[in-house]
Amino acid sequence: MESLQINARRLWHSLMQTAQIGATPNGGLCRLTLTDPDRQVRDWFKAQCEALGCTVAIDEVGNMFARRPGGNPALPPIAMGSHLDTQPTGGKFDGTLGVLAALEALRTLHEAGRQTNAAVEVVNWTNEEGARFAPPMLASGVFAGVFTADYAYARVDRDGKSFKEELDRIGYRGTEKAGAHKLAALFELHIEQGPILEAEGRTIGIVHGVQGMRWYEVTVSGEAAHTGATPMRLRKDALLGAAHMIARIDAIARKHAPDAVGTVGRLENRPNSPNVIPGEVFFTVDFRHPDDATLDAMEEEFRAALAELLPPLGLSFRETRIWHSPPVTFATDLIECVRIGAAKAGLPARDMISGAGHDAAYVARVAPTTMIFVPCAGGISHNEAESASASDCAAGAQVLLNAVLEFDRRLG
Ligand code: GLV
Ligand code: MN
Ligand code: MN
Repeated sequence: MESLQINARRLWHSLMQTAQIGATPNGGLCRLTLTDPDRQVRDWFKAQCEALGCTVAIDEVGNMFARRPGGNPALPPIAMGSHLDTQPTGGKFDGTLGVLAALEALRTLHEAGRQTNAAVEVVNWTNEEGARFAPPMLASGVFAGVFTADYAYARVDRDGKSFKEELDRIGYRGTEKAGAHKLAALFELHIEQGPILEAEGRTIGIVHGVQGMRWYEVTVSGEAAHTGATPMRLRKDALLGAAHMIARIDAIARKHAPDAVGTVGRLENRPNSPNVIPGEVFFTVDFRHPDDATLDAMEEEFRAALAELLPPLGLSFRETRIWHSPPVTFATDLIECVRIGAAKAGLPARDMISGAGHDAAYVARVAPTTMIFVPCAGGISHNEAESASASDCAAGAQVLLNAVLEFDRRLG
């Protein structure tokens, strides 16, 4: 069978077109999940798929599945996709590339009139980022049975708005039960979000799995008081306690380096006034490592640090582990399809694992999944400056299509 070539210019045009939805002045994107820009990009995506004759199903947590029928209706669909939501100061490629490259693959199949054995679907997963509603990969988690739909519905953002009310508000609460939609496979293309491919001059990452990750929320309580009139010995400064913890969390991750990472990414200081000693501080912790036993050790050290560092400063605390995603290994037959797809495209590739979380990690519990990475400039992501070249995006889309066709061929 002749090989199909994706259209690099069309893919780039779609990337730049959708980058106007939620664009920030610094060239990035703020398309937080279930906001108006999220609705706009979903509407755009749905219209593009329908223009190709696809039907678009939406499940109860807003996941979108655009289907192009195959020759054998008895086969479950082969899915490709990622997410269209972004971080508050996110880039144009994290997530979006995976959905739009999948759309480009679909357009290529459509244009060529190629009949696949199985139906082919493009998926947009809701709230991969977890930036607005923690935890990340929330709706793919519901799809995979990790969370219930009611758990997702009850998540609230920092303004007190719930996932369910916002999903309803943007009109994307579908009728299909999450997970009722069976998949033969899921292939997810993504930028690497790290420096390895660029440094080695390789175009394709053949991804074997995703490291483990855990999120915690901590509230440190002290006493708000006058900055001028309260002697140092009488202070209960919650921000000082948080500062000690931030340094310790960094030290814990460095102790378990090079594979461990640890971050305090969100911090809320109350009342946040120049002349009030901080009375309460909320912060988040993100620990990651490929091995669960190391994450257990890091967690133990973190909890011991809270008990060691805060009470001597007159502070109390509440700590909750709000999320745990264990390390994931992808499906060997899909990895093989990606390897063949990269070789067929004549692209330099290397095997790797993912430092970032992805929907394919949860979906792996209910369907075979894998991922394809392409380089991003300087390894920078979750940043408005995030950048990937048109040729690398096209290379990723080509490997995605090749891998899907190889998988489909094996079903035939
Ligand atoms: C998702 O973007 C994550 O890795 O946190
Ligand atoms: Mn992503
Ligand atoms: Mn992300």
